[in-house]
Amino acid sequence: MKRLDKIYEGKAKILYRTDDDGLLIQYFKDDATAFNAKKKGTIADKGAINCAVSSVIFQFLEAQGVKSHFVKQLSEREMLVKRVEIIPVEVVVRNYIAGSLAKRTGRPEGEKLPETLVEWYYKSDPLGDPMVTKDHLRIFGWASDEEVAAVERIARRVNELLAPYFEKRGILLVDYKLEFGRHASGLLLADEITPDGCRLWDLKTREKMDKDRFRFDLGKVEENYREVYRRVCA
Ligand code: TMP
Repeated sequence: MKRLDKIYEGKAKILYRTDDDGLLIQYFKDDATAFNAKKKGTIADKGAINCAVSSVIFQFLEAQGVKSHFVKQLSEREMLVKRVEIIPVEVVVRNYIAGSLAKRTGRPEGEKLPETLVEWYYKSDPLGDPMVTKDHLRIFGWASDEEVAAVERIARRVNELLAPYFEKRGILLVDYKLEFGRHASGLLLADEITPDGCRLWDLKTREKMDKDRFRFDLGKVEENYREVYRRVCA
């Protein structure tokens, strides 16, 4: 598979064209940003760790019948993916209170939610990804009602699979962000599933093992990313 020109560079990944029109190479960088890129830095080996973690999780989900853009891991930092049209919606799935939900509700971080909460954000860097309702998604033409219903169904299925998957590996799946893409074969889970876009806590100690360590300068960032890699990939 030949890597051709760069078609998109985001905060943590780069997309390259390939000699197959339907396939792209997703390259994982060590760069990290937080708070809509107001905070910038790098996390050593993050690109390799996230590429490996995401590859293993997409393969696990595929084996359980959840279709994604993942085709195969090509190298340490390169993943071959199907070309999709990304739906401009960030779907956040929450099992425990943390982050912006703790702020918005005044409830303590770490409280278990009585049921899984799915939230919708309009994916827009200039606007800072504002939270929206399903009605906004339809009215502003970002996703149809049918797409939103399918996305929610898949997101809840992903959660049923991933919460016990992480628990078996000593990790509490607190919350995470999913993205979806339109493809000729239907809706596909896209982007990545990594410690950048998930809150992952040690099951016993509740120590944070994800990007919150970078966001809030908690130290031992690389060590915790590596530990997630060890528990998921080793
Ligand atoms: P939040 O509590 O800040 O709304 O974040 C919820 C989850 O979504 C958390 O696991 C981190 C992830 N997330 C991203 O992947 N990208 C983002 O831009 C934000 C704000 C959150």
